[in-house]
Amino acid sequence: MMNFILFSLLFGFYGVLAKDKDQKGRFSVPLLDVKTRQQVLDANQMLTLNCRGRWQLSWTFPAGLDRDQVDVSESRCGRTSKHYCSQVKVSSIQAQHTGLFRCRYQDKPHKQTSIYVYVTDSQQLFVEDANMSPDVLYLKEKEPLVIPCRVTSPNVTTELVKYRSHSLSPDQRNIIWNSRRGFTIRSPTFFYIGLFFCQTTGDIVRHQSRRYFVHRIVNKIKDVRLNSSEHTQALKGQRLVLNCSATAELNTRVNFTWDYPGKSISAGSTFKRLVKHQTEMLFYSILTIPKLQRSDRGRYTCRVKSGDQSQHKHVNVTVYDRPFINLKPRNGLVMMVQAGEKSYKISPKLRAFPAPKVIWLKDGTVAAEQCSRYHMSGNSLVIRDVAEEDAGKYTVLVRNQEHRLYQNLTLTLVVNVSPKIGEKAVLLQDPGSVPRGSRQALRCTSHGVPPPHIQWLWHPCPSKGLPAAPPQA
Ligand SMILES: *[C@@H]1O[C@H](CO)[C@@H](O)[C@H](O)[C@H]1NC(C)=O
Ligand SMILES: *[C@@H]1O[C@H](CO)[C@@H](O)[C@H](O)[C@H]1NC(C)=O
Ligand SMILES: *[C@@H]1O[C@H](CO)[C@@H](O)[C@H](O)[C@H]1NC(C)=O
Ligand SMILES: *[C@@H]1O[C@H](CO)[C@@H](O)[C@H](O)[C@H]1NC(C)=O
Ligand SMILES: *[C@@H]1O[C@H](CO)[C@@H](O)[C@H](O)[C@H]1NC(C)=O
Ligand SMILES: *[C@@H]1O[C@H](CO)[C@@H](O)[C@H](O)[C@H]1NC(C)=O
Repeated sequence: MMNFILFSLLFGFYGVLAKDKDQKGRFSVPLLDVKTRQQVLDANQMLTLNCRGRWQLSWTFPAGLDRDQVDVSESRCGRTSKHYCSQVKVSSIQAQHTGLFRCRYQDKPHKQTSIYVYVTDSQQLFVEDANMSPDVLYLKEKEPLVIPCRVTSPNVTTELVKYRSHSLSPDQRNIIWNSRRGFTIRSPTFFYIGLFFCQTTGDIVRHQSRRYFVHRIVNKIKDVRLNSSEHTQALKGQRLVLNCSATAELNTRVNFTWDYPGKSISAGSTFKRLVKHQTEMLFYSILTIPKLQRSDRGRYTCRVKSGDQSQHKHVNVTVYDRPFINLKPRNGLVMMVQAGEKSYKISPKLRAFPAPKVIWLKDGTVAAEQCSRYHMSGNSLVIRDVAEEDAGKYTVLVRNQEHRLYQNLTLTLVVNVSPKIGEKAVLLQDPGSVPRGSRQALRCTSHGVPPPHIQWLWHPCPSKGLPAAPPQA
């Protein structure tokens, strides 16, 4: 009697608790009509799953199952139709459809219920079988390696085979087998780089899985380049296209990030490509700004990341409202140079965009055609071995035919020549002795630029045996 009361008390107590929990937690996740966590079907059978919940539902299917092979029908259900029901039908399910079916709330995807469905087929024991093209897997340092050779029946036993090497059996310490995941190598060494596959054991007929190439992930960026000068100029309304390329060691993967003034408003678009060469990888990312605005001027940075490695390059982009030519003398309109200078450069201040055509004239005709000592260096004119005849008027014509912009500037060059006395060049005749009181003319011819000023000096002849007296004005 006592026992009975105690029992019913306890029972009632628990009953109340359980009921409470049920009310509150009911459909906090969607519910499937099957209560088991897994289901085993034979190939070509029909799969039907029903899911029910309080909100709109959605499904995820195994990777091998195309969405269009699945029939999903949705309805409202429950006593007052306040529940959502969804039914999934796969009319003829196949071995490669083996995997996890998940039903979840569309707006709360982490609230989900799932069931793992095996589709057995005596012809196909691996979900990814030997007929598929090899897959590439990456070995990351200090991370487990998964060889995803899942099987179509829960009880298949397998081993992992390294091509041209030995096979490995699960040891449940470092080599873990799971029919839903394949092999997991907890701490892989470099032995696990190479070609692998899985193979069934026990049966007389051995089935093999797809091939898996295991590569070692490396993060080695060699070089990053932007195909543009450090100061890029462009006109408003033009298109800006930048190509950021990175070379890296084989098996490296990289990510690109662009930073630029219009990024926050997505002014540009990017795309990425990979080119594999014999000895290295080339990646490039193209940034396109279709129509430049004034606000697009500034710094454009391309950042290339691989694991914890990072490199970047930037360019400074200037955007002009309109084309222009700005031409000014650097130091006045008259220039002076000494004859005999090795070289002289005439360089006015010139800023222009787009790059104009520049022609130099001397006294009205093209300078370079006049004298081989004249040549252009950038937009400047350089005169080699400056001579007196180089004096004159130099005109620089700057033009941008396309935008009908023209500017010219004329500068005067004065060439200074040091004075020379003509008579010094010829051997002077000693005038000899002349009669006292006679009239004598002495000639002095000189040349120089500017014209020299001539001054005569006289000093007495030295007395015999005595040094000459100092000259006097
Ligand atoms: C797998 O093995 C278990 C126990 O050994 C057995 O009960 C079950 O029927 C087997 N399943 C299949 C699909 O063979
Ligand atoms: C950079 O590469 C892009 C894409 O090929 C090209 O459109 C652009 O003209 C290049 N820029 C320069 C300065 O070469
Ligand atoms: C970007 O630059 C790389 C390296 O110079 C080149 O191989 C690639 O073809 C360029 N891409 C485009 C679209 O021009
Ligand atoms: C690239 O970025 C993605 C997402 O941020 C990240 O998962 C991936 O590891 C990155 N890859 C490399 C090679 O750094
Ligand atoms: C970019 O160029 C502009 C104009 O030449 C200059 O004012 C600006 O300081 C430069 N910015 C950077 C980040 O180099
Ligand atoms: C230089 O410009 C002026 C006006 O700007 C023009 O009259 C003159 O003809 C130009 N000279 C040459 C050589 O083009």
